[in-house]
Order: sequence, then C-alpha cells, then structure tokens
Amino acid sequence: MNNFKRYLVTSALPYANGPVHIGHLAGVYIPSDIYVRYLRLRKRDVIWVCGSDEHGVPITLKAKKENKTPQQVVDLYHGIIKKSFEDFGISFDIYSRTSSKIHYETASEIFRTIYDKNGFIEKTTEQYFDPEANQFLPDRYITGTCPHCGDERAYGDQCEKCGTSLSATDLINPKSTISGAKPILKSTNHWFLPLDTYEPFLRKWILEEHKEWKSNVYGQCKSWIDQGLQPRAVSRDLDWGVPVPVANADGKVLYVWFDAPIGYISATKELTPDWEKYWKDKETKLVHFIGKDNIVFHCIIFPCMLQAEGSFILPENVPANEFLNLESDKISTSRNWAVWLHEYLEEFKDKQDVLRYVLTANMPEAKDNDFTWKDFQARNNNELVAILGNFINRTLVLTDKYFDGIVPEKANLKPEDEEVLNQIPALKANVEKSIETFRFREALKEAMNLARIGNKYLADTEPWIVYKTNPERVKTILAVSLDITAALSIILEPFLPFSCNKIRKFLNIEKLAWDELNSGKYFEAGHKIGKAELLFGKIEDEQIEFQVTKLLNTKKENEKTVSFEPVKAEISYEEFQKMDIRTGIILEAEKVPKTAKLLKLLIDTGVDKRVVVSGIAESYSPENIIGQKVSILLNLAPRKIKGIESNGMILMAENSEGKLCFVAPVDDFGGGAGIK
Ligand code: 2FM
Ligand code: ZN
Repeated sequence: MNNFKRYLVTSALPYANGPVHIGHLAGVYIPSDIYVRYLRLRKRDVIWVCGSDEHGVPITLKAKKENKTPQQVVDLYHGIIKKSFEDFGISFDIYSRTSSKIHYETASEIFRTIYDKNGFIEKTTEQYFDPEANQFLPDRYITGTCPHCGDERAYGDQCEKCGTSLSATDLINPKSTISGAKPILKSTNHWFLPLDTYEPFLRKWILEEHKEWKSNVYGQCKSWIDQGLQPRAVSRDLDWGVPVPVANADGKVLYVWFDAPIGYISATKELTPDWEKYWKDKETKLVHFIGKDNIVFHCIIFPCMLQAEGSFILPENVPANEFLNLESDKISTSRNWAVWLHEYLEEFKDKQDVLRYVLTANMPEAKDNDFTWKDFQARNNNELVAILGNFINRTLVLTDKYFDGIVPEKANLKPEDEEVLNQIPALKANVEKSIETFRFREALKEAMNLARIGNKYLADTEPWIVYKTNPERVKTILAVSLDITAALSIILEPFLPFSCNKIRKFLNIEKLAWDELNSGKYFEAGHKIGKAELLFGKIEDEQIEFQVTKLLNTKKENEKTVSFEPVKAEISYEEFQKMDIRTGIILEAEKVPKTAKLLKLLIDTGVDKRVVVSGIAESYSPENIIGQKVSILLNLAPRKIKGIESNGMILMAENSEGKLCFVAPVDDFGGGAGIK
C-alpha cells in the first residue's frame, strides 16, 4: 500500500429526482463499497461519504411536472434512495443531503472565501427570460431549432440529435418550456470561475503527475485541457438552491455543480468534528468514485474550486466507470428502462449478494457493458451455487456428518494439502493489487478462484470415499477445507458481505481481519461449528421470465407512446427534383474531436470524393462503417461544423427512440447512381 495515513472516499451524490438503478450501482456504488470494505478489513483509517444531490434543474423540472415543490420531490426520493442503499449493504459512513443546513453553511462559506480572495470574475451577460412566467430560464428550460442540424427539439445547452453543445442564444426560434412564450434577452449578473487561469496547474497536476489515472479519465481530462478552458458561471437565476452569499444577489443561487461536490465536505463535517483532518491534511488519500459523465466536474472544476479556496487537498484518484446497458439498450429513467434497486430488493428477498456479484463481474470498468437477466441467472446458478455454495456446503455437511461439527485435527499434511493452502497468500496479494488499482472484476475473479480451488480439492481427495477406509485422513482433508472456508469469508467479504456473514455464522467465528488470511490459523481443532444452511439458492426460469416480461411490457408501453413527427408542409415535384441524391460509399471515417456524436466521413459519390460531417457517432464506430453503402444529398449548401466543411448529407432513418440506420441501396450499386 502507499504512505497515506488515512482515506477519504466519496461517491457521486445521486440526484434526488428518481430511485437508484443497476447502472448507478455498477458504475459507482458497488466499486466504492468494495474498496471501502477492503480498506476497513485492512484496518485503515477510512471514511466514506455520500448523500443526495438535491438541487439543480432536473429536480425543479420534475417538481413542475408533478405539481409538487422541489422540497417534496427531494424528500420523497432521498428517503427511497437512502433506504435502498442501506438494504443493499452499501456501507457509507454517512448518507447526507444537500438541502441540509450544514451544507448551505459550508457551500456559502466556500463561495465567500473564494469571493473574498477575488477568485471569481463578475460579469453581466444577456440571458433568456420568460416574460410570462417572469423568470430567467436555465438552459434546459429552453428549446428551439439546432443551428447545426435543424432539429427542432434542441435544448439550450445541447442538441441531443447532433451532439453539438450549444448556448441558448444559438437556438433558432427559442421557446420557454414553462409557458411556451418566446423568451427575451435580459441582462443579468453572474460569478464565473476563471478556469482558463488554472490551465498550468491542471496540466502539471493531472497530465504530468497523475498519469496512473484510468485511461478514460486521463483521456477526457487531456481533451478538456487541450481544448482550452473557459471561465465557467457558478451561479444561476433560480429559486431553488443555495443563495449566492453576497449583497445584491437576490434570486441567484449557486450552480448545482458548484454546490454538489461541496456536499462531500458538508457530509464529512456532519459525520465527524475531525473533518478537517480528512480534507486538509496531505497525508489523506482522497478518492472520488463517479460515472464517466461526471469526469470534468470532479477532475477539473471541483479541484479548481478547491485550489481557489486554498485550504483543501486534491483527489489522489478519480476512478470513473463507463455505463451499464440493460438488455442491449441504454438505461433510461424517463423510459423506465431500468432495474430499480428498491424493486429488486422486494422481488429478490435476501439476494443482495447475487446482484452485487453479477454487477461486479460485469462492471463497466473500461467500456460500456450489458446486463441481461439470463446472465444474472447463469452467474447465480453456475458460479455462486455450483462453485462457492457447493464447496462450502459439502465441507460443512461432511464435518457435521463425520465429526459432529467439531473441527478435526490437521495432521500429516500431504503435498496436495499444502499446495492448496499455499495458494492463499498469492491470491490475497493479487486481490489486493487489483482492488488498489480499481480493477474490481479481476479482483472478484481471483477471490472466487479460492472457491474453485476448494471445489477441486474436494473432488480430488474424495473424503466421502476415503472415510470408509481411512477416517484419519479425512480429518485433515476437512480441516483443510474448513480453513479454505474461513479464508473465503475474508477474501470475499468486500464483494459479498451478506454471504460472508452467513459463512462466519456457519463456522461460528467472529469477523477476521484481512491480514489473518496469511495466518493459516482461523480456529483451533476442537472448535464447534454452527448449523449449515444453503448459502445460495437456484434462480428458476420463472423468476427470470417474470423480469423479462416486465421489460417487454415496458417496451410495449413505450411503443404505445411513440409519437411520429407530423407530416411536413407539401412541396412540389419541382422542389423535390432540386435535390440531387446519389448512392455513395464511405471510404474513410473518423471521430470529430471534442464531440460525442459527430463523425467526419470521406464519401466516394461516384462523381467525386467529398467530406461530410454526420451525427452518427453514437450509433456507429468509424472502423465498422468503412465500405458502407449510403445515400447522399449532394447539392446541400456546404456548412462548417466544428471547423470542418461538410459537403452534403448522408440520409439516415431515425426511429422514435433515436436509433439510426443507413438509408442505402440493398443491391451492390456503385457510387453516383441517382436516387429518384
Ligand atoms: O450526475 C449526477 O447524478 C450528479 N448528481 C452527481 C453529483 S456528484 C457530486 F459532485 F456531488
Ligand atoms: Zn443539432
């Protein structure tokens, strides 16, 4: 391990506008729970803080939609989230909330300190204002036509169709989502954190000193820094949030991404009077667990805030995971495409560890991954039941049967006994290394190898046969198996805490520390073990069918609400004929840097080879579409998109869920054929 005296672990504060689902668990809360449980087993000084993120536009939007106050919304979901985390064994030291008094005080204090040090730039800008609702409009409250792709449902901060990030003033025909009114521009004053002035600090701190960060995290940071950072507004005109604590700031609150990470600090304050030791001493290792959409806030903005304030430490690592999909489709709260934790806990009573196991084994550490109910069932039945449960059950039942549940003497160890026991230190070291470098899938696999070794040992030594001729030998075999069982209760504890608790009960032992894995002494011969029960039960096909049907019904519901865009205004045949649409072939494709959705394509149109920028990067990776047949509108006026001149447009079909597919000739046509 390293030289840090203590650990402070944080997990992204979930928005209190909906319950927690498996994507949240696999991305953030299970990895951090494993990490912290491991540190505790190693007797490290560690605290782990989290809480509900209760400000921000998603919450006010939800309140409006449900005709509730924002406070009512967050009270409801804070309760649901907190309880489901507790029931699932997510072992935070504190689960706080950002609507608490202590948080308001802490966030105001930090803003005020930076303000007093002249750490903000105060600027007057023109912002959209809804004259009917009589309020300024946050970006998500404005929709309009995207100036890049013409989509009419673009938001004030981003066009979800082409992926371009926008300013609300870029939108054509802007409209307030509150009243439908046309917003007007009105001057307003805000405070900006001058991120640009922190560039040298960020380059040195991240790009030079933290090359060990996960490549997805390091890569995103590098791209943000290389792109050139801009001053970022840290206040908003809203009536829900922490009021800006300076004079003449009526109606202004701190931007949610300014106050939310301060929630980590206020939660620590609420937890312990010793909080400064964790936040201000360089011997503390601060680790933020987050999802990939939070990287810029935790690696760039929050550290700049902390630097500006001046007295806090910076994170030592920010292990961000990618996303988990569900049955090959993006998890979506609005489409109810999710496995909700509170529902899982109801439907799979006492099976917390099964979900913990499956989500760890499939954790989206390096790339997006998929959760399927079939895989859930297979991992339970073929791994937890058939390997881990089977080994432990056989060991306990045989000990009971042959020795009345008394741990027998280990005598005359044979090479095969020693070989098995000698593998424990190496497994321990591997698990340590993997957990400390945030590779939890690998760590779990290695820990489970001990159960595999145990199973093989029993199969090879066959105590149920040997007992008939040599009961003395069986004493040793079962003593070794009981040692492995005890070792499993330690090595699997960070991953499967409920099951390890049960194993300890079966063995009638107290919780052992991590380093006792090396001792080889878990109990004395003569120790009486407890009563064995099944550790894991089989998951039957009906249970899985029930879940799959539930999802199918959701899909059907969603399809019912599919709304097709209205038919556009009539055009004449002459107008149609003006469009020169041809067949073409994609020769080259590459991602447009700093955009999520754009690909730069080189198309062989038959008449020439030309560059087209297309918003299809989320559906197609560049390497998979070389040679793809397309239809291309040739005579569309050239447009500059992200500095690249785009000459034409690829025709794509898009369904109501935003899925894209190429509109292209089915037959093997060359380029240049006219489409009429
Ligand atoms: O993305 C989210 O769900 C945010 N609520 C995470 C906030 S993390 C921290 F900064 F509070
Ligand atoms: Zn667009």
